[in-house]
Amino acid sequence: MKKYKIVLLSGDGIGPEISEVSKKVLKKLSKNHNFDIEIIEKLFGGIAYEKYGTPAPDETLDQCKKCDAVLLACVGDIKYDSLARELRPESGLLKLRSALNLFANIRPVKIRKSLLDASSLKKEIVEHVDLIVVRELIGGIYFGKPRGQITNTKIQKAFNTMVYDSAEIERITEIAIKIANQRNKKICSVDKSNVLEVSQLWRDTVLKITSKDKNISLSNMYVDNAAMQLVRDPGQFDVILTSNLFGDILSDLAAMLTGSIGMLPSASLNNSGPGVFEPVHGSAPDIAGKNIANPLAMLLSASMMLKIGLSEEEAAENLETAIDKVLSKGFRTADLADGSSEVLSCSEIGNKIIDEI
Ligand code: IPM
Ligand code: MN
Repeated sequence: MKKYKIVLLSGDGIGPEISEVSKKVLKKLSKNHNFDIEIIEKLFGGIAYEKYGTPAPDETLDQCKKCDAVLLACVGDIKYDSLARELRPESGLLKLRSALNLFANIRPVKIRKSLLDASSLKKEIVEHVDLIVVRELIGGIYFGKPRGQITNTKIQKAFNTMVYDSAEIERITEIAIKIANQRNKKICSVDKSNVLEVSQLWRDTVLKITSKDKNISLSNMYVDNAAMQLVRDPGQFDVILTSNLFGDILSDLAAMLTGSIGMLPSASLNNSGPGVFEPVHGSAPDIAGKNIANPLAMLLSASMMLKIGLSEEEAAENLETAIDKVLSKGFRTADLADGSSEVLSCSEIGNKIIDEI
């Protein structure tokens, strides 16, 4: 029997609730598909700060480096906003991404048929959406140096640096090419090269690398236009390739095409070694502990983990089908409520999915 070791980081806010559902789902899948899954739970984010004084303890990072895949719920809470930046839960997340060298963040935006009416956009606009955001994850302005604040002057100043070298752009472009080749072979690279030097290097490097693959059709778009096009005609996109900050912003925007940010999964990958699979949404502290959160983005992330991280493709498929069945029977969580469907709690919708597996 195949044996996997995964690290589960349930983090903060709604994290523990959606993780509970994920654990049960993974147990059922492992039984049905005949593999063994050891789930090692570790503290991460605000909860780790409370206990150890750091959001990403070494012990947690070490376990993550040694396992087959990491499943992460979400981190953060406004109560940590006044901490020094390096102690905040979000910094822990950046440290984890960087420690595992997870330079490629994959965010698939797929419309589930039964949720066509849940989008804030018209059905005709979103119906053919099936795109993937490929976001560079450990470079750009998130990590660029110098950065800081100057406080000993009359007028305060703060600054960050948006920087990429060509090797960083090349490797993320290679990932986008690989993904595009499994799909419609279209890459739209998003930048701001009409203003930024770093974006000019981005554009030139993407062109250089993609032109080696004759199957790929490349287009370029400025990020402001891309935001507009994602709302105007999102069906035009196949693979969107972009930098860390632009990818962060565009993926939240694209998430809403699906009806709720509670539906969007992601995978953060390296060329080798364990990936981190996590929902795109945050920790939603306002609804934490109420058992009303939507666990589907985390389950879809677990499905990505099964497929990409563990090569358990049948189990991944089984889970996705179970999710679609539950949605098509009209069951929803509160974020997707439309007046005519039955609204279930986080654990209830989890149990419905388990019944379908
Ligand atoms: C995301 C999140 C993170 C990011 C935050 C929590 C640091 O918004 O994964 O999109 O900005 O990358
Ligand atoms: Mn984000």
